[in-house]
Amino acid sequence: MKVISSITELQHELASFDKEQVALVPTMGCLHEGHISLIQKAKRLADIVVVSIYVNPLQFGVNEDLDSYPRTLETDIAMCEREGVNFIFHPQNLYPEDGIQVGLHVGGLSQGLCGASRQGHFDGVVTVVNILFNIIQPQLAIFGEKDFQQLAIIRRMVADLHMPVEVIGAETVREEDGLAKSSRNTYLNAEQRKQAAEISTALTLMQQAATEGLSLEDTLDIALAHLKQFDIQPEYLEICYTDSLLPAQSLDTDKPLRALIAAKVGSTRLIDNMPLCPTTAANPDPEDNPLCA
Ligand code: PAJ
Repeated sequence: MKVISSITELQHELASFDKEQVALVPTMGCLHEGHISLIQKAKRLADIVVVSIYVNPLQFGVNEDLDSYPRTLETDIAMCEREGVNFIFHPQNLYPEDGIQVGLHVGGLSQGLCGASRQGHFDGVVTVVNILFNIIQPQLAIFGEKDFQQLAIIRRMVADLHMPVEVIGAETVREEDGLAKSSRNTYLNAEQRKQAAEISTALTLMQQAATEGLSLEDTLDIALAHLKQFDIQPEYLEICYTDSLLPAQSLDTDKPLRALIAAKVGSTRLIDNMPLCPTTAANPDPEDNPLCA
């Protein structure tokens, strides 16, 4: 495995591969089992795996945690080595000295959910992912469903701009109590860590309610009541159509649905989501409901 910070050096290394499939796993480091599952998927699907580690300043708002974001390069390198990663790309800076003049902008898909409270965040994400795609030119890129809106936006970026990359989603990896693994979980103290697990419990309760045939309103109320019981005030708690991420009108639909939550525990903002498989007039039998696949 090579750890490379220079763009030209990385491109020189990658130029020696001709027929090999290259997969990129973009990360901001502080790697955990969620990232590792992406790397393992990349290893199964491609010949060469590049993991980028770059805490992208462009996607952090002014009052967000850019400076305190955990940086654990030595451990990250050891984890990647164990997984058989071929290259770690760890650039010092991906932007011009005088700041970036030209970037990408996301439309309606970034208006709701996380985009509503994180102005400019997804513009920063798509701009850096575009830069990474241009430098590395991977055939495949793997992203986690944990950041569901990010994954949807990157899929749209690739489709809208005809980028020659296949975007692959990977399921969320969780702690034993259900908490989605996240680099930001390191900010939680013991009490907050327990509280944080209730976010995934609320999502599981929504899954149960939907499968039992409850309405959209009742399904949302159950989750809201659960969070309230544990003193968690969600920033959003929504059921959206999986593709458009627009709020669902009803659970009685043949469109795939996703339940999504963002909430602060202490000062740590956490997000999570799960698919719903509602039992409705259109889909009376959970056993052969196409939405449950
Ligand atoms: P980061 O938060 O480091 O996440 C890197 C990738 O790991 C993302 O695709 C994210 O969805 C995935 N991931 C995080 N936690 C996961 C979990 N518990 N299970 C499965 N996958 C998980 O997301 C970013 O970095 C940045 O926005 C980035 C795309 C690198 C652009 O800067």
